[in-house]
Amino acid sequence: MDKLLARGSGSLSAAARSRPRTAVVSMMAGVAVIAATVAVATSASAGTTLGASAAEKGRYFGTAVAANKLSDATYVGILNREFNMVTPENEMKWDATEPSQGQFSYTSADRIVSHAQANGMRVRGHALAWHSQQPGWAQNLSGTALRQAMVNHITQVATHYKGKIYAWDVVNEAFADSGGGRRDSNLQRTGNDWIEVAFRTARAADPAAKLCYNDYNTDNWTWEKTQAVYNMVKDFKARGVPIDCVGLQSHFNSGSPYPSNYRTTLQNFAALGVDVQITELDIEGSGSTQATTYGNVVRDCLAVSRCTGITVWGIRDTDSWRASGTPLLFDGNGNKKPAYTAVLDALNAGGTTPPP
Ligand code: XIL
Repeated sequence: MDKLLARGSGSLSAAARSRPRTAVVSMMAGVAVIAATVAVATSASAGTTLGASAAEKGRYFGTAVAANKLSDATYVGILNREFNMVTPENEMKWDATEPSQGQFSYTSADRIVSHAQANGMRVRGHALAWHSQQPGWAQNLSGTALRQAMVNHITQVATHYKGKIYAWDVVNEAFADSGGGRRDSNLQRTGNDWIEVAFRTARAADPAAKLCYNDYNTDNWTWEKTQAVYNMVKDFKARGVPIDCVGLQSHFNSGSPYPSNYRTTLQNFAALGVDVQITELDIEGSGSTQATTYGNVVRDCLAVSRCTGITVWGIRDTDSWRASGTPLLFDGNGNKKPAYTAVLDALNAGGTTPPP
């Protein structure tokens, strides 16, 4: 504001010198009005919602959405006001979309996709292949039968949503928490190539969707699990396995805290030639401590050109899968928490590295 006024007055000075004093005063007032208007326009364009502010920086800001909450007016009010990306929290998982083998059920997920499309939001699909939340019939399969069921599942679901998904979490949580190897699961026991088969299958079904590998405890660059995922992505890129992005769930709490090297992790994944997305962010805690960590996460993402967006895992604390940890940006009444303000301020601050 001061700068604008100073610059405005300066540009006037030559003309002003030849005018009577009253005219100079009224012109100065006019400049002040123009400057004030510019200042207002500038702060408005800096963004007053998470989605708008992220968009100013070439990113999205998303949330997990539960279909059964789309009739909650407070919930939908915040969703429509603040977010421009949604991830169905459970509705696209295997147990939800294929409850009986070969019988697909898309009603709840379709509701979320329709809501997103009607309100100008994009959709992250979550998740095509995962050891958890499998339907009972799949849990009971193994070997070739399970592999074929996985391929068919990916093909059917990705085809149903073809053209409507910004990015798919193709494979979720396939690595062990320690030891640097794969997690044991029925899918892993079908053969180590199950992950790349999943990615190739998803690419064939929906070539326009970005294909992501998504996991938790992959935030700290020094952790074995982070290194293991990094090495897989590097190998996929080297061998031409179609992968476009890595999702860091980033569920932070005292047992799995926000690491000071988080930005390094984002940078190192991005340097492999993939986008990086923060896909399920929640940070347990409260007040200024929680707010500071949220701000740090946002600043880290903005500092990495290929960190293309952030999704929080729910809207109000009471919507969270970890509600007792009050890990989200809105309280149970839908009021903005200090963490919300920290995120918005970080998004609106300068110094971003925009996506290519
Ligand atoms: C969670 C949902 O939030 C819960 O409603 C559900 O009961 C269990 O799954 N990692 C993931 C998400 O990839 O799908 C999980 O979501 C949270 C951990």
